[in-house]
Amino acid sequence: MTQPDYLVIKAKKDGVNVIGLTRGNDTKFHHTEKLDRGEVMIAQFTEHTSAIKIRGEAEIHTAHGIVSSEEKE
Ligand code: TRP
Repeated sequence: MTQPDYLVIKAKKDGVNVIGLTRGNDTKFHHTEKLDRGEVMIAQFTEHTSAIKIRGEAEIHTAHGIVSSEEKE
């Protein structure tokens, strides 16, 4: 992996959570970042992070396109 993939996450509401999940045998939360409306986070997949979970309403820009996460009703 020469250029690790990364995501751009833009919060659409206050209190969006960006959660990093560990690489390896067990998949656990290792980092939680809270974003407020309008805030942007640029996060990479790294040696430590194999998956990223987004909770709340956000726009997620990836190499594969743009997806929107929604809030639970
Ligand atoms: N120290 C973390 C790591 O390298 C930082 C990180 C990278 C992160 N990608 C993330 C934290 C995605 C939360 C979400 O693994």
